[in-house]
Amino acid sequence: MQTVRRLAVPLLVVLILATACGRSVTVGDVSVVPEPVFCVQKEGTFTLRGNPRLSVQGFGQNSPTAKYIMKSLRSAHMHPSLVPTSSEADISLVLNDTVNSEIGTEGYLLEVRNGGIRISANSETGLLYGYQTLVQLLPADVLKTTYRSITMPECTILDYPRFAWRGVMLDVSRHFFNVKHVKKVLDVMATYKMNKLHWHLTDDHGWRLPSEKYPQLNTVGSWRVDRDDVPWGKAEPAREGERATYGGYYSKEEIADVIRYAADRGIEVIPEVELPGHVSAVLAAMPQLACDDYPYEVAIGPYWPPKAILCAGNDSTLTVLYDLLDEVCDLFPSKYIHIGGDEAWKDNWEACAKCQRRIRAEHLDGEEQLQSWLVGKVQQHLAERGKTIIGWDEIMGLKKEGWSMDNGVSETNPFVTDDAVVLSWRGYEPGLAAARGGHPVIMCPTEYCYVDYYQADPRYQPASIGGLVTLSKAYGFDPVPEGTPAAVARNVIGGQCNLWAEYINTPQHAEYMLLPRMLATAECLWTPRDNKDWNRFRRKVEVQKDRLHAKGYNYCEGSFTPHFTARRVDDNTMNISISTEVPNTYIFYTTDLSTPTRESLIYIGPINLERGTHIKILPVYKDIERDSVYEFLIK
Ligand code: ACM
Ligand code: ZN
Repeated sequence: MQTVRRLAVPLLVVLILATACGRSVTVGDVSVVPEPVFCVQKEGTFTLRGNPRLSVQGFGQNSPTAKYIMKSLRSAHMHPSLVPTSSEADISLVLNDTVNSEIGTEGYLLEVRNGGIRISANSETGLLYGYQTLVQLLPADVLKTTYRSITMPECTILDYPRFAWRGVMLDVSRHFFNVKHVKKVLDVMATYKMNKLHWHLTDDHGWRLPSEKYPQLNTVGSWRVDRDDVPWGKAEPAREGERATYGGYYSKEEIADVIRYAADRGIEVIPEVELPGHVSAVLAAMPQLACDDYPYEVAIGPYWPPKAILCAGNDSTLTVLYDLLDEVCDLFPSKYIHIGGDEAWKDNWEACAKCQRRIRAEHLDGEEQLQSWLVGKVQQHLAERGKTIIGWDEIMGLKKEGWSMDNGVSETNPFVTDDAVVLSWRGYEPGLAAARGGHPVIMCPTEYCYVDYYQADPRYQPASIGGLVTLSKAYGFDPVPEGTPAAVARNVIGGQCNLWAEYINTPQHAEYMLLPRMLATAECLWTPRDNKDWNRFRRKVEVQKDRLHAKGYNYCEGSFTPHFTARRVDDNTMNISISTEVPNTYIFYTTDLSTPTRESLIYIGPINLERGTHIKILPVYKDIERDSVYEFLIK
């Protein structure tokens, strides 16, 4: 005992001294994602002390924004204090009393001067964004290191977003993710000024909302037989008597906690309730809502085609939907409710006497119009509660259900009003059609925005649902494609990336799929089109990688995977070109089966190789060997 007590006091003193002292550091050039609208770096510097003084003008010291910023600085090992006037402050946060018309509602002006840092904005959200930019002027390891002082370049950044809707969709049905993970996603969204969490809470594989009125949705619909020990594609159906042990749902308190946490970071949470398709979990819990008496189960593994559909001929289906949506309205303050609408297979409707009777009674033109009619009913019900619907682009109606664009896109659905927001996932065209018809549109075409797709050569990636969206492809996203008429472009309110979770069953894997591609989406949605620059973005991603690692995020290096093309020279010889999507990557290679190192041959241009040769490649960028060695057989 005696020894411990004698040691404890000096140790405490050393710890306190270390905290108070720390190191001093000078940060280099300004490097911000998403790229600001206007940024000038000056010659001078400002030194921020480890115990910065903050002043807050035009809003409350106890507001969520002020509290968030104080807490965030503390998590960066600083010891901030509040002072009453900006003249005493190192960091002044100013809510403009006269609106600065250049920056709009979400923009900000960040000025780093010799005398201090000033962030001004027209809203607290703008101040939050200005603060997020300031954080990117601090050293990458600020979360891990205590700095006595941080010297940063003087700069002026005037910034505002190109689009109002900058979203991430998180699927928590195919795999369930707890609140801790959802908050970690919200944190990284906030860092890059993403402002909408589209929470995909219901699907064939599990119902994740709490329901008091229909508790069987939770006792039955939230659970499935656990097949997580095998890859998604290999999961076998449930055996007789097997217990459903995988899943869960969020409590009301957890949902409120997520909404509050998001709001503190300037993010709105939009719930999605899938209807009328993707309802296997609902029908497992409430079989009376089906057209048939098939024994539906909470789906396990691939479920395609997703035939489960709510019976639209049954009045009690509408009653249940209204009840559930009322529960959702009570839980979520967002003015938006996403009502799904994608991939609703109509086979059951074709065969169902009640659905056919509804089609006749409502004078509908077949099953596709029956969905349009149902969407209209739901929209009407939600409108009475002050809510606006969002739906996948199929809510506009199709000639025939299915993935293919041959099945048609519509500019209008006669049963819905123009304020219905359309989420365009089957390419740009459905969104452009809806925008022509006067609907607000959010773009998320699969080929740019599906971050569940592979991000590099599948041989070097964890199993995914398929597709390929490399980082540079994701960076090619533009919610308003070139040539879009201004009257149509006006209705495009933004875009989002979508993280479907069939193949993703851990938070680490979810982060790996999201990062760094979400950074590309963020820049495409925030930065003016003419200010985008892939080479600069790719360089900035390196800086962000260090920041993300410091915060404990997992991250994919797929950008460094070599692309490989072969051209026939003669019967025995192929001409090989190798590149990565990252400019200035050095490519070292061997052709003798040895493992390449930096001593190996360096690729400087196309090479002729005999068929049957194994080429092994080591990419090196900024003096760091990347990821792994890649191997190709010349055929
Ligand atoms: C979707 O990917 N089925 C919206
Ligand atoms: Zn039916």
